[in-house]
Formats: sequence, structure tokens, C-alpha cells
Amino acid sequence: MIQHVQTNTVISPEMYNKIATAAELLRAGAIVAFPTETVYGLGADISTSSAVSQLFEIKGRPTNHPLIVHFADASQLQHWAQEIPDSAWKLAEYFWPGPLTLILQRSHHVPVTVTGGQNSVGLRVPDHPIALALLETLGADKALAAPSANRFGRISPTTASHVRDEFGQAVDMILDGGACKVGLESTIVSFSSQTATVLRPGGIPLAALAKVLKGQITLVDKNKLTERAPGMLAAHYAPATPLEICASEYIWQHAIKLEAQGLRTIVIVRADSTADPLMNKNIVSYSMPQEPMAYGNQLYAILRQFDRQEFDRLLIEMPPDTPAWLAITDRLLRAGVVITLNNRTTYPK
Ligand code: TXA
Ligand code: MG
Repeated sequence: MIQHVQTNTVISPEMYNKIATAAELLRAGAIVAFPTETVYGLGADISTSSAVSQLFEIKGRPTNHPLIVHFADASQLQHWAQEIPDSAWKLAEYFWPGPLTLILQRSHHVPVTVTGGQNSVGLRVPDHPIALALLETLGADKALAAPSANRFGRISPTTASHVRDEFGQAVDMILDGGACKVGLESTIVSFSSQTATVLRPGGIPLAALAKVLKGQITLVDKNKLTERAPGMLAAHYAPATPLEICASEYIWQHAIKLEAQGLRTIVIVRADSTADPLMNKNIVSYSMPQEPMAYGNQLYAILRQFDRQEFDRLLIEMPPDTPAWLAITDRLLRAGVVITLNNRTTYPK
């Protein structure tokens, strides 16, 4: 129900008309991009198999890679999932609508084409008035499969123009809700084993989930987030320009090395960076917010912006090793390679 909407954004009559058109298009099997609080999604009605296949096709995504199913109200959870543990209900009640995806056993209402052949399904109630109004207009037993509206492996879009840049005419309609307020994808929590497990850090911090579940939640393979070897990464969330991640201590030293090799480099550091750029005035740099929420909100837009410019390397400062930066560190480590002093690097692309 609309009363669950947590933002104060008012939907204009024009936008309501567009939402009605979008719902008609979706019923007819079209693909519609829409804003959520995290990133823009590329939506298809899960009950229309041709639209779901087309989603995989235009995204260039392997069909065994499951999609998140979005619906309008937490109370509909048992329509889409079964054997729902109490802890999942707790998270749903506390955080939905919001940037949280729950992986649960799918009900027969969810086609396996959407789940990539699996018996589990990713479910989420987004906290965006346009997304919720669109889902409401579609109807109570309807849901939208919506991956992030980017080509497979690339940076997620946080504005409607990012979606246009990615897909142009391949998408039937884009609902423009301005910039996404979170800017990073949802936190994914799986209930496929006894304990709730965070599979992807994201919009909801681990500490907030742990508080609601009284500590009964773990982070999957935490070491993998920090110990990924260069060249071993699956390229994901990646700009086309090679992205290198470097500790504050040697970021400028590394930038000088790249420039000496004739590689045009931009150095992206936090506003409170301890890296000392004084001796390197000739290298282009950009200052990001020092606060993780604001940083996460801008990250994808900034990477896209610099990716369009004439740089050979995007060099970004390694985030602090604290829980608040976990989602950002996770995305960067998937998007690029970590440079350590004297380390030869290879690229996943
Ligand atoms: O914030 C978000 O979650 C955005 C917005 C649009 O809602 N969506 C998003 O979707 O990021 P996508 O498709 O780009 O990423 C979905 C992730 C994938 O990593 C996928 O493997 C995982 O969710 N996922 C979905 N269903 C799953 C399942 N049944 N089991 C395990 N992982 C699943
Ligand atoms: Mg994605």
C-alpha cells in the first residue's frame, strides 16, 4: 500500500499518467526501466515469460543468473515465498520498503526462468514512490523482475540518463525519478542455510540487520572481500577504463608511475584523504565525500563521468577498513584491481 512509502516525494499528475502507461506496457510484455532508492531497475512482469527472456537478452546476462523480484507490500511476502523463517519476517517488517533483498524458497507463483533455475528467489519491496506506485497500479498479485538497468558486468545506473546511455531504444520506456538516494544496490540476505547470511553488502548496513536479529547474521566469506587477487576478479560493476585501487600511502606514487608511462590518469581520493598530493600538481584529481553514505551515493555517477573522459586509468583510493565502507569496498574490488607497491597487475577484461 502507498501509505508504506517512506519518502516525502510527491508524484505529479503527469508522472501518474506515465506510470499508468508503463503499467499498460508491462502488461503487454514490454520492458520498462524505473527508479528505485538504490539504482534504476529494468523491469518485466514476471508472469510474462517473453518479457523475462528479453530482459536477459538486452542486458546480455546469462540466463542462470537469478533476478530480484520486486513487489509492493511486505504483507505479500508469503505469496512469493514459502517456509519463511521468523528472522526473515522480522527483517521484512523492519526494513521494507527499503534497500534489502531476501533470498527465500520460491513459491509456485515465481517462474524458474526468473530465478535462473533455482528454487530460491530474491525478493524486495523498494522504497521509491514511483516504483511502489507502478507496482500498485499493476495489481496485488503482480511483481516485477528487475535487475539493475545496466549491461551485464557494467556500472549500475543511478539516473534515467545513465539508463538511456546504456540501452537507448532497446528499452520501451524509462520512468525518470531523478537521482537514486542510496546509489548502491540493496543488501542481499540469504536464508538458505540455518543462519541468515549477507551475500552482498549494500544499502542496509550489517550492524542494522544484526541489531534486529540480535546478532544472528553473518557475512559470507568476508575474506574474499579483502583478499581478492589481481586478475582473479570477475569483472563486475566495472567502467570500461581500467580501474585501479590503491592504498592512500602509495596512491600518488603509483599515479606518477602511470603518468611516466604516458597513461593519462585521474586520482580519486576522499576529501579527508591522508595521501599527500602536494608534489604532484600535474596529475588530475577528484575529491569524493569523506562520509560513506554520501560517497556511496555519488560513486557510480562519478565512475561513469570519468569513464566517458579521455583517461587511460581511473585510480581510486582504497576505502577505510570499517563496516560503514563495506558495500563500497565490495563494489570497487569487483570493478577493478588492487595495486600494492611493486605489484605487477593484470586486468580481468
Ligand atoms: O538494489 C538492487 O537490488 C537493484 C534494484 C534494481 O532493485 N537490483 C539489482 O539486481 O541489483 P541485479 O540483478 O543487478 O543483482 C541481483 C543480485 C545478483 O547478484 C544475483 O545473483 C542475486 O541478486 N540473486 C538474485 N536472486 C538470487 C537467488 N535466488 N539466490 C542467490 N542470489 C540471488
Ligand atoms: Mg546488477
